Amino acid sequence: METTCNCKDSPIRIGLIVACSENGVIGRDGDLPWHLPEDLKHFMRSTKGHAVVMGRKTFESLEKPLGGRLNIVISRSMPIEESIPGELTVMRSLREAIEAGRAADISENGFGKGLIWIAGGGEIYKQAFEVADLVLRTRVHCEIEGDTYFPSIDSDDWALEQIEEHQSDDRHDFGFTIERWVRRD
Ligand SMILES: NC(=O)c1ccc[n+]([C@@H]2O[C@H](COP(=O)([O-])OP(=O)(O)OC[C@H]3O[C@@H](n4cnc5c(N)ncnc54)[C@H](OP(=O)(O)O)[C@@H]3O)[C@@H](O)[C@H]2O)c1
Repeated sequence: METTCNCKDSPIRIGLIVACSENGVIGRDGDLPWHLPEDLKHFMRSTKGHAVVMGRKTFESLEKPLGGRLNIVISRSMPIEESIPGELTVMRSLREAIEAGRAADISENGFGKGLIWIAGGGEIYKQAFEVADLVLRTRVHCEIEGDTYFPSIDSDDWALEQIEEHQSDDRHDFGFTIERWVRRD
């Protein structure tokens, strides 16, 4: 598994952005196990203008590449030729994907603002967790069945800096809390 990168030497930070249930579930049957429009808005707001790295399966769960962001897809099978300049980049490893995100960040018309977002899914979060500087986790207030999980966050290693509460309502099956975790030095 190739995850090694000199991330700690770079001023460009790496964030994981995720929504997971109280029992760590993030996905079921290739899709999200809930419909939370306000959390989706939060995802779109947070990632706008950045490079967004994702696994091939997560990319395929989208209708199209996320607009206004550089979509960087990690895959061993997707043809590199499917890349579209300034919109979609196919990479063969997490390390290459992060390097592509950094290159985009520092380029003249670049995406980034000093932060690359990793947007899943389970395989990619697992590999990226050790190189992440921050985690923006939406904790969905439910215990739910699924087939894809997010690692647990150990408060010895991570500090919870900010939270934002949302109640359930007629558009949201579950309440949720948006948490910002930053890796301790
Ligand atoms: N709740 C959330 O916040 C959230 C966010 C994102 C996704 N999800 C959910 O998560 C699920 C998808 O996650 P997943 O774990 O099944 O798949 P995934 O992580 O999205 O993608 C897995 C694919 O990425 C590629 N890949 C993984 N590691 C690689 C490496 N080191 N080098 C090269 N390629 C690599 C492989 O593609 P190839 O097979 O093409 O080689 C692999 O099949 C879906 O249910 C989705 O809805 C939830």
